[in-house]
Amino acid sequence: MSTGARICETDGCGKESRLQCPTCIKLGIEGSYFCSQECFKDNWATHKAVHKKQRMKDHLAKSEYKNLWPGYVYTGTLRPHSVSPKRMVLPNIEKPDYADHVNGYPASEMAVRGSTQIKVLNSDDIATLREACRLGREVLDIAYGAVKVGVTTDEIDQVVHEACMERNCYPSPLNYHQFPKSCCTSVNEVICHGIPDGRPLEDGDILNIDITVYYKGFHGDLNETFFVGKVDEKSKKLVNVAYECLMQAIDAVHPGVRYRELGNIIMKHAQTNGCSVVRTYCGHGIHRLFHTAPSVPHYSKNKAIGVMKPGHAFTIEPMISEGTWKDQTWPDNWTAVTEDGKRSAQFEHTLLVTETGCEVLTIRPELNRRGHFLDQLDKEETSQ
Ligand code: MF3
Ligand code: CO
Ligand code: CO
Repeated sequence: MSTGARICETDGCGKESRLQCPTCIKLGIEGSYFCSQECFKDNWATHKAVHKKQRMKDHLAKSEYKNLWPGYVYTGTLRPHSVSPKRMVLPNIEKPDYADHVNGYPASEMAVRGSTQIKVLNSDDIATLREACRLGREVLDIAYGAVKVGVTTDEIDQVVHEACMERNCYPSPLNYHQFPKSCCTSVNEVICHGIPDGRPLEDGDILNIDITVYYKGFHGDLNETFFVGKVDEKSKKLVNVAYECLMQAIDAVHPGVRYRELGNIIMKHAQTNGCSVVRTYCGHGIHRLFHTAPSVPHYSKNKAIGVMKPGHAFTIEPMISEGTWKDQTWPDNWTAVTEDGKRSAQFEHTLLVTETGCEVLTIRPELNRRGHFLDQLDKEETSQ
């Protein structure tokens, strides 16, 4: 190769070039000479892909992950890190049937699998479910307090586990179908069921923490998506849309409404805002069983069976994606990611159908009943 003058990057330009792309210099990318500002500008749309590729490479080189699954093609930039040993549960804590089963088999749940019959809870059941949900809410709020750049999702799992122990709760995810941790932590392109691991949270991540606790025989299930450090506008929009989808669906919950109607409301709001709705994972009945009838799809024109009646308890937990609605599962058999590697956000509440509408059993108590991320948005606005 001659070491003479460089030739402009622009196809067919052929001019001698001395201007080098400043971003390329910063990122240590060789080459990338342009003859003029004009050629540089004209090329920008295609040229910037070079930067993206290099940033991705740098990112992966920096993060300390082991290549666990050679041959698996990741859809995005997130990688699995090491998972800590299973946490111990205090002996006095009441456990669900799968907790000590070798395969994490939830026998009571499996016994009624496929049944579309929805249990009507009596007032004692409701009182206990209410308690379980309130405790779940406390645990999620404590978990939120641990979210910070540099904290690993495993550390958050530890906080969650200890908060459960202090409240005499069993962390429902632990050993459920052999899920290895006490909560789900789903970062960026992870749709749901992310396994807490040694990855430190990064500035700009979005993180969903999904908490389910088992207390006096009942499960309470909720999740929220949080911002880590400073998140870009596109992600804020996505998280906000996911929150609004859940809230609009909750507003529709009344006796006599068909479960299949909720998906129409959710998908309409998502699509109006340029987002898609995940189809593989649904809301579910919840009480003495973690997941049971009804199944509550979040997409429109679904064929869900059942009509809401006072005493029904179930979750709504829409997963809303920036790009495709399609998901795939990592070789760990849990982590659900978007097929295009774009981000996904989720919110979940456990609800009780009442005579007049519904009671949101996992709502934040007292003055501020909203999502934590809305507080974060407010804080940013007033600090500007
Ligand atoms: N909490 C999740 C839900 O909303 C279920 C997690 S199951 C686990 O239904 F095994 F992944 F923990
Ligand atoms: Co749920
Ligand atoms: Co959940």
